[in-house]
Amino acid sequence: MAQTIKIGIIGSGNIAGAHLKAYRLMDDVEIVGVADIIPGKADEFIARHELEGVKAFDDHNKLLELELDGVSICTPNVSHHSISVDSLRAGKHVLVEKPMAVTMEQAIEMVQTSKQTDKMLSIAFQPRYDPNMQMIRDIVRSGQLGNVYYVQTGGGRRRGMPKGTFISKQLAGAGALADIGCYSLDMVLNALGYPKPLTVSAMTSNHFGTNPHYHPQASAFEVEDFGMAMIRFEGDLVVNFKIGWAMHMDTLGPTLFLGTDAGLKVTPSGNGAWDGGITSVSLFHDILGHNTESAFPVKQHQINIFYEKIRDFVTAIQEGRPAPIPGSEIIRNQAIIDGILRSSELKREVDIFIPEL
Ligand SMILES: NC(=O)c1ccc[n+]([C@@H]2O[C@H](COP(=O)([O-])OP(=O)(O)OC[C@H]3O[C@@H](n4cnc5c(N)ncnc54)[C@H](O)[C@@H]3O)[C@@H](O)[C@H]2O)c1
Repeated sequence: MAQTIKIGIIGSGNIAGAHLKAYRLMDDVEIVGVADIIPGKADEFIARHELEGVKAFDDHNKLLELELDGVSICTPNVSHHSISVDSLRAGKHVLVEKPMAVTMEQAIEMVQTSKQTDKMLSIAFQPRYDPNMQMIRDIVRSGQLGNVYYVQTGGGRRRGMPKGTFISKQLAGAGALADIGCYSLDMVLNALGYPKPLTVSAMTSNHFGTNPHYHPQASAFEVEDFGMAMIRFEGDLVVNFKIGWAMHMDTLGPTLFLGTDAGLKVTPSGNGAWDGGITSVSLFHDILGHNTESAFPVKQHQINIFYEKIRDFVTAIQEGRPAPIPGSEIIRNQAIIDGILRSSELKREVDIFIPEL
């Protein structure tokens, strides 16, 4: 029987329920405490989920005084940084919800603290556990495509703008970029082995969020609902990326990888492949001078990718493995989002600088 892992949950809103649900399916996990900054909210969460013997706190630092192996950080984006740093310093492994942070300074301190404390900092990108996403990653990493020099990715919802903390600049940092753009970038960058971004030229807008016709909280809408960027990477790779919460269009097209030996076309089932919803994966290649298209079998699966994300975190703690989705890698994703926002504000191409950590 594997070692029982003691977990605390910080933030007891929407996504905390999904973390709890996954942990509760595991015989080798004990939920020890829940913290939420709103007094009484953690107690209410504990009561609602009938969590016997679980302690409630309105300050995460009090929770961190408990004997815990790890924490799930399920708070709004703005506090991912401070709570991760406090948790790592308290000797706990961290699974923090996406996006990693709000600023690059925050992301840097998170990675540094993880190194200093030798505790895991894992970012909660569950699409990584989708079998079709894993197939795409394996195809790209196999070298079948040759040297990949161009990628286009992203997508957009026809209408799909969240409310509340997600549209507050101060609490979320960014809008569609931080909410779904980070997944979309992770999909292609993980497949490519997270190349180093060098520069970005980008534009963002919020034509829908600030229009009361399209958003009930238009007067409070402070973030972008659309962003597009041309991102240059080491190795003469360019990524054409776009993401939107709303648009007058059904799709922004497939994700494409163009390589010197073959191209890969990933057609999303919905309006973007960031969540793993895929209808087809096709390889375009040359066989004996013939332009050939080969279809990979798209898997119809019942895998609960959210559960798999949490399970991998727990197993990594038990086995003393590195973070399954390390902050030291996702800092490149964060740096791109940071660069997109800077470039859009300055209306020109900007450098992306990530210090050696
Ligand atoms: N992985 C996914 O599929 C997924 C889906 C939705 C949201 N998220 C991410 O999860 C995070 C939370 O989103 P949500 O929808 O659950 O938001 P939410 O507003 O429903 O819940 C956040 C909770 O955190 C609490 N909180 C705020 N600051 C706190 C602090 N300093 N200490 C303790 N508690 C604090 C709030 O009171 C609230 O109860 C966001 O970063 C979001 O991007 C991830």
